[in-house]
Amino acid sequence: MNFIVLTIFPEMFKPFWEHGIVSRAINQDKISVSAIDIRDFAQGKHRTTDDRPYGGGCGMIMKPEPLAGAIRAAEKKAPLSKRILLTPQGRPFDQRVAEELASSDGLILVCGRYEGVDERICHDFIDDEISIGDYILTGGELAAMVIVDAVTRLIPGVLGGKDSAEKDSFSDSVLEHAHYTRPRVFEDDEVPGVLLSGNHKEIERWRLETSLIRTFLKRRDLLENRPLSSQEIEILKKWCLDIEKIIHDQSLYGPDPLSGGQQEG
Ligand code: ADE
Repeated sequence: MNFIVLTIFPEMFKPFWEHGIVSRAINQDKISVSAIDIRDFAQGKHRTTDDRPYGGGCGMIMKPEPLAGAIRAAEKKAPLSKRILLTPQGRPFDQRVAEELASSDGLILVCGRYEGVDERICHDFIDDEISIGDYILTGGELAAMVIVDAVTRLIPGVLGGKDSAEKDSFSDSVLEHAHYTRPRVFEDDEVPGVLLSGNHKEIERWRLETSLIRTFLKRRDLLENRPLSSQEIEILKKWCLDIEKIIHDQSLYGPDPLSGGQQEG
């Protein structure tokens, strides 16, 4: 996979390429990365990349000529790449989009700055527009890093067995189960006994339960939009019964103890 980032701040990417899984993937030839300075394609003494908007208004717009020059140069290096503009107006980036991008030949990531880019670039030089969230960054550079990071770790062979992407949060539209490592007791807080039991079936069941309960509490939308397996349905039904039992047992004790002994009604 070939990533080419177009930016007016290519230096921002140097430390990014040099750390962690991205750096390892580069060294193992799983990915190749480069940054093209949009300013190299700007004209004039000041190599200006932005200008005032036609029609007036505040803010500056990225000029089309330097962007077009930089995109053409990137296309020459990697003709099969998908050209993506990072913009808050793009389609939302999520794990599914990361998987989709991971199966492409390469990505040309165009980082906008200022108020935006000249519309003619969006029409004629861009295949896709992506946003990493409903907030406005000062430029697309951080969004490009997010995409490179999320896509790189999905490329076969980039993550070893010990940190495989298959069991990630979201890869199955549920959040990951709880994790523990040594020490067994940390500030009086013990690792759940089942994880020390050696009973792999029980451990798998516990993991599925914690994964479901987290998803239910933190991201119920994920559960609502995904078919449940029969084991998951069985676990959810068991919770319903447990909750009903708690309510039933409480109601046998008469007045609400929290309302100062007053009968409700
Ligand atoms: N540029 C500015 N804000 C952005 C965002 N939220 N996503 C992608 N690119 C951006």
